[in-house]
Amino acid sequence: MDNSQLSVSWQISEIPPEDHEAIVAFHRDRRTATDIPIMPDYAYANIAHGLYENTWREHFHQDKNNPYRTGAYKAHIDGKIIGFVRFGTITFPKKEEFKIYGLTDWGELLQLYVHPDYHHLGLGWALFRRATQQLAVWGVRQMLLNVYEKNYPTRRFYERCGMILSHEKNRRVVRNNITFDVPCAYYILPDVQDYVKNLKP
Ligand SMILES: CC(C)(COP(=O)(O)OP(=O)(O)OC[C@H]1O[C@@H](n2cnc3c(N)ncnc32)[C@H](O)[C@@H]1OP(=O)(O)O)[C@@H](O)C(=O)NCCC(=O)NCCS
Repeated sequence: MDNSQLSVSWQISEIPPEDHEAIVAFHRDRRTATDIPIMPDYAYANIAHGLYENTWREHFHQDKNNPYRTGAYKAHIDGKIIGFVRFGTITFPKKEEFKIYGLTDWGELLQLYVHPDYHHLGLGWALFRRATQQLAVWGVRQMLLNVYEKNYPTRRFYERCGMILSHEKNRRVVRNNITFDVPCAYYILPDVQDYVKNLKP
C-alpha cells in the first residue's frame, strides 16, 4: 500500500494497564504477520506460545525498585492502537552476546511495530525517536537491539534511524522444551545522549 500521499494525525502516549488486552492482541497480530514469512513453522509455533500475555503483565507490574525497567508508548487514533514501541534499561550484561561491548548504562529497544495501514508515514520513526528520548532521560548511553536476520525491511528501517550493525549470530531460544537457533542481527546506537541532543524538534 502506498501511503505517501496520506495525511494522518496520530497521538503517541504511554500505555496504561487498561490497554492490556488491546496491546496483547496488537502485539500478537503484528508479530504473527512479521514472523510467518521468516520463521520455520516449528519455531514460530513455539516462540509465539504465551509470550505476549507474560510480556505485558511483567511490563505493567514491574517492580519500581528494580534498576531494570521498561517503558512503552502506543500510537493511536481515536483510541485505536496503530503502533507501539517497548524498550528497557540494561544495568548489567544480561546476556552473553552483550558482553562484547564491555560497557555500562545500556538500553535496549525491545519491540517496535506499526500497523501496515500506517506504514511509510513517519510513525515508525516517531516511535523510535520517542523511545530514544526516554532512554536518554533514564541515563542510557548505548542502545542495543536485535532483529531476525531475515527481517530485511525492518533492518533497513533501523539503519535509516542510525542503528549500526554490530554482528550477526544465532540466538538460542528455548520454548516448550524445544531448543532452536534463530539467526539474528545485532545493532547498536553508540551514543544515545548525543543522538537525542541532535534530533530535530
Ligand atoms: C519497520 C516499521 C516499524 C517501520 O514503520 P513505518 O511507520 O513504516 O516507518 P517510517 O514511515 O517512519 O519509515 C519507513 C519508510 O518510510 C519513509 N517515510 C517516512 N515518512 C514518510 C512520509 N511522510 N512519506 C513517505 N515516506 C516516508 C522513510 O523514509 C522510510 O523509508 P525507507 O525504509 O525506504 O528508508 C514497520 O515497517 C513495521 O512495523 N515492521 C514490522 C516491525 C518488526 O518486524 N518488528 C520486529 C523487530 S522489533
